[in-house]
Amino acid sequence: MNSEVLVLAAGKGSRLKFSGAKVLAPLAGRPLLYHILQTLKSVRLESKPFEKISIIVGHEAEKVQSVLERDLFEKNLHWVHQEQQLGTGHAVACALSGLSSERVLVVLGDTPLVQAYDLERFISEVPSDAIGILSMQVDNPAGYGRVVTDKKNLVESIVEHKDASESELKISRVNTGILLFNRKHLEQYLPLINNENEQNEYYLTSIIKEAQKDNVAVYAHDVSVPSYYMGINNLTHLEEAERIYQDIKAQQLLDAGVRLIDRTRIDIRGDISVAENCSIDANVILEGKVVIGPGCQIDAGVLLNNVTLGANVHIKPYSILESATIENDSTIGPFARLRPNTRIGSNVKVGNFVEIKNSYLDNGVRANHLTYLGDAEIGENVNIGAGTITCNYDGKNKFQTNIGSGSFIGSNSSLVAPLVVGENATIGAGSVITRNVDANTLTVSQPRQRILSSNKSNDADAERISN
Ligand code: UD1
Ligand code: CA
Repeated sequence: MNSEVLVLAAGKGSRLKFSGAKVLAPLAGRPLLYHILQTLKSVRLESKPFEKISIIVGHEAEKVQSVLERDLFEKNLHWVHQEQQLGTGHAVACALSGLSSERVLVVLGDTPLVQAYDLERFISEVPSDAIGILSMQVDNPAGYGRVVTDKKNLVESIVEHKDASESELKISRVNTGILLFNRKHLEQYLPLINNENEQNEYYLTSIIKEAQKDNVAVYAHDVSVPSYYMGINNLTHLEEAERIYQDIKAQQLLDAGVRLIDRTRIDIRGDISVAENCSIDANVILEGKVVIGPGCQIDAGVLLNNVTLGANVHIKPYSILESATIENDSTIGPFARLRPNTRIGSNVKVGNFVEIKNSYLDNGVRANHLTYLGDAEIGENVNIGAGTITCNYDGKNKFQTNIGSGSFIGSNSSLVAPLVVGENATIGAGSVITRNVDANTLTVSQPRQRILSSNKSNDADAERISN
């Protein structure tokens, strides 16, 4: 039997105090709607994906569409417009004429932690001629639609919080917002619902009562972990959902054999893969696409954004790496900053207060202290002394610095680009190098040292030039 899914994402979400469309509010660095669509794409019903995924958009529709298509690399989504947001029932009505499958799952755009296995089980267990409510038992049902049952425990209706009586408010079984219909039920009963309620909205949930009049079977199916089905209506919910999401991610890392010092102090905002024998200390943030090879150690306070680490890489505390690749056995930090397009070979040491941008450091390079390397290619085993700077910018353009393998750059050198330093060259400390340096040479450019005598009476010939 064919199934398709409708995601309701037209609302503004004023309660969230978010300037854009509510479904673009970020959870783990990505829009709420992104998480739901990723999950829906992974659902398999008798090993097949949903026939179709349609999203109802209204508030900032174009922006929602373009952001999601970009982030998901997905052009096969169907976008339906709901010009005015008159309620969840009205939203589904806007999509009615475009439905083609026998069964239709409705999912809310503000419920980002939905789990694929719950949806798969729900759809397979509800008979195809019945209506299914994905329900949950919660300690605090405030804000949710209550699932009202009769004496035989059969579902009678869903009553929204604002319309509920004193006794209905006490019901702890609520609607997650995810409902499953046979398409003919939507066609038959959706036109019958009205907006005579506290919010003057066309509630999708009102359909249950209408269908009950014809004795359509209604199944309520409780999820096992209610916290995954919380709706995000305000900033407190968003913060709670973020912590739940992070806990799921931390558990996945632990299950994969990664040592976490504290599961509550790691934040994952992207697609992370970590190999065996790695350990991650407190307050580490992993963003974008992060690939960590075997045996790596990530110390406290490190931020990795779109980073690939080889084997046995050690990132020491408070280092910030963005769009960088590090090969095996290298050490970075503490307090290092690797900016976009930095490539580090194997056995490299980048020490404290070193900033690197758009550069390649070949195997065995040492840049241990207080250095800026921008637009540079540094050959094998080069030693960059403390305080060395590539002067890569003349106020208008950026220029390249190439340093041949085996060279030794003395401390506090300024390498004025464009510049080529040959192999095995030595540059004396404190030099300002403006012209290319040949291989196997010693270059010094600092002024000679002068020692002025402290003896006032010999002022006239006080100045000695030392060698
Ligand atoms: C809804 C359910 C409630 C359930 C709760 C679970 C209804 C009437 N109520 O309440 O039973 O317990 O979710 O979280 O369905 N939307 C549109 N167009 C509209 C109105 C809403 O697309 O005209 C979208 C919103 O963008 C949002 C979702 O539908 O993503 C839910 O709307 P919301 O107003 O948050 O419903 P709740 O009051 O939370
Ligand atoms: Ca909601």
